[in-house]
Amino acid sequence: MLDAGRTEETLLEVNNIEVIYNHVILVLKGVSLSVPKGGITALLGGNGAGKTTTLKAISNLLHSERGEVTKGSITYRNEPIAELDPAALVKKGVIQVMEGRHCFEHLTVEENLLTGAYTRSGGQVSADLEMVYTYFPRLKERRKSQAGYTSGGEQQMVAIGRALMSKPECILLDEPSMGLAPQLVEEIFGIVKDLNEKEGATFLLAEQNTNVALRFAHYGYILESGRVVMDGPAAELRENPDVKEFYLGMSEEGRKSFRDVRSYRRRKRWLS
Ligand SMILES: Nc1ncnc2c1ncn2[C@@H]1O[C@H](COP(=O)(O)OP(=O)(O)OP(=O)(O)O)[C@@H](O)[C@H]1O
Ligand SMILES: [Mg+2]
Repeated sequence: MLDAGRTEETLLEVNNIEVIYNHVILVLKGVSLSVPKGGITALLGGNGAGKTTTLKAISNLLHSERGEVTKGSITYRNEPIAELDPAALVKKGVIQVMEGRHCFEHLTVEENLLTGAYTRSGGQVSADLEMVYTYFPRLKERRKSQAGYTSGGEQQMVAIGRALMSKPECILLDEPSMGLAPQLVEEIFGIVKDLNEKEGATFLLAEQNTNVALRFAHYGYILESGRVVMDGPAAELRENPDVKEFYLGMSEEGRKSFRDVRSYRRRKRWLS
């Protein structure tokens, strides 16, 4: 059964991609995933699993890091997008919010938001600014503040708000929880959910925080060492004993320590 807002229509399709950095380092080893229109899809996995690389492969940001897609294909609405530069992709409706927020520190909050509207023109921009402020009232309060002096949570909001200013259909969100206190993480994910339900925004979000991601997403993919090792509806992944034990830190016996988690490679049935 589909969750509210999620449709059968696939927007983004990643088909068996391989990514190599510096001509030699094989980082993605055949990753496939699909992102349905109107859904929140989570890309999960620990440090170095390949989440950011997957998002950058989609938004064509690998070149500057000497990375390239050497196999497989990526399509958006059934059209190949590998040749499109990030600006052309934004025009198609796909935008990436980078890991680590990346605000223009010397510009005000509002100026930062306005930079997101660069592909567009006309009076719609001020209406969109108001829309962003409806979802992020804190940014309205701080709109004249220099972005570099706002908190980490507010900078994450600026980064998401700026992406919204391009009127995207599909938002690639890299590690929105990074470095934020639990309460702020809840707040940011709550806004993502609202944007999904009320504006129909489609999200592909990369997260190490499996717990929060699986509470808000409809579907999840778990990446390990550049491979998808498991995928399924979020509700099913939340109940899966391996996910519970190794990603949610829970087991039959209760909480697991990180040291216990290390033994899982030997036990893991999906690699056997
Ligand atoms: N520019 C690069 N050159 C060489 N190797 C890289 C480069 N960027 C990433 N890697 C390697 O690719 C692998 C995947 O990295 P990636 O950043 O995609 O992981 P991630 O899942 O986003 O991790 P994190 O949760 O820490 O952000 C890692 O082993 C990393 O060291
Ligand atoms: Mg990353």
